[in-house]
Amino acid sequence: MITVKEYAARRRDLMSMMAPNSIAIVAGAVEKIRSRDTHYPYKQSTSLSYLCGFPEPQAVLVLIPGREQGQCLLFCREKDKLRETWDGYRAGPDGAVVDFGLDDAFPIDDLDEILTGMLEGRERVYYAIGKDVDFDRRLMGLINQIRDEQSRGSLPPGEFIDLDHLINEMRLIKTASELKLIRRAGEISARAHCRAMKISQPGMYEYQLQAEIEHEFMVSGAAAPAYTSIVGSGKNGCILHYIENREKISDGDLVLIDAGCEYENYAADITRTFPVNGKFSPEQAAIYDIVLQAQLEAIAKITPGATYNVANDATVAVITAGLRDLGILDGEVNELIELEAYKDFYMHSSGHWLGMDVHDVGDYKIDNQWRVYEPGMVVTVEPGIYISPDNSNVAEKWRGLAVRIEDDIAVTKTGCEDLTAGVPKTRSEIEFLMAVEP
Ligand code: GLY
Ligand code: MN
Ligand code: MN
Repeated sequence: MITVKEYAARRRDLMSMMAPNSIAIVAGAVEKIRSRDTHYPYKQSTSLSYLCGFPEPQAVLVLIPGREQGQCLLFCREKDKLRETWDGYRAGPDGAVVDFGLDDAFPIDDLDEILTGMLEGRERVYYAIGKDVDFDRRLMGLINQIRDEQSRGSLPPGEFIDLDHLINEMRLIKTASELKLIRRAGEISARAHCRAMKISQPGMYEYQLQAEIEHEFMVSGAAAPAYTSIVGSGKNGCILHYIENREKISDGDLVLIDAGCEYENYAADITRTFPVNGKFSPEQAAIYDIVLQAQLEAIAKITPGATYNVANDATVAVITAGLRDLGILDGEVNELIELEAYKDFYMHSSGHWLGMDVHDVGDYKIDNQWRVYEPGMVVTVEPGIYISPDNSNVAEKWRGLAVRIEDDIAVTKTGCEDLTAGVPKTRSEIEFLMAVEP
């Protein structure tokens, strides 16, 4: 759990980076209709969530460092007995102050009027332009209103600064309590993958394994999958973001499952690939072992001070050499790497930051140089080999094989910690788990 105190510390840290006489504005996410009167499950904007944890729609957080009447302010829906009967609890401005530790809160309906007054006379506005065009337009409208009043002495802000850049850099380094939540998301997700492996039988449908995975998420208290679960059997595994999950799984197929839950706003992201019938064929085993070796070598490189790209470079080296040894690539390894020959089979990079968003925020390069790993960063390591069913350049026995192995790795003071080690990944461990009765 992230405490009210930790949220307050985040806001304090952010405000300490803001210039004097400035204001930060963070708009919450907008609800989206799925079908007439029903909405997609609501997800608060991660920036607003990170700074105060307020979960309701129609919220705007405003930070004004140094403001005497209060620095941390929230606009939110008012309490409304009737609407609460239909749609659920609302904190209301008073509740927002008490429960979320804010200095003051106002009804969202008063936003334009109150915010205009707060903008007037501030030199700089920290705001994430371009994420919500309707809110962009609304904010520009308020600023233009102040500009129109200039002849009467109003002072419009003169400078916009990207707020997300500051928040994203903070979010990149996870605190102990954040790591605890990601670790928990990882444990639940690992259990879900084990459940799918144990229950898997030829003839099941991909969506049935998806249901097993997501059942484990929900009974463990996770709010939702952190992204749409991918359950690709056979050649469907070659589609990187395959989410139809409708096909019947044939005996002899591999199943690639990429699924992770979101637990208290933090994501896990795990991929495992296993034979539906519990036994790897020789071709499946050969490809699997290359991917596993690539993943293990990449993880071994992750340590404070190493540059971000060492993990990707390790996966490329192992996969290229492995495909060459199997005769799938032909040539000298360094040359094949230079020519990026592996990209026909390994077309994504080795991973991404992980946190409140599954593809989490934070720059990968600083001044065009790969940044270095620091304790508190969390990164996925997810090499894969995907041999298109249509690739006539490779022997038929390889076609349609797809393997990805993905774990979530936290950088520690002395190296790294695998947050998703609870699900096996060696072939013998997987075969053993699948052989045991569910
Ligand atoms: N689940 C999407 C990814 O692995 O990046
Ligand atoms: Mn994934
Ligand atoms: Mn991933």
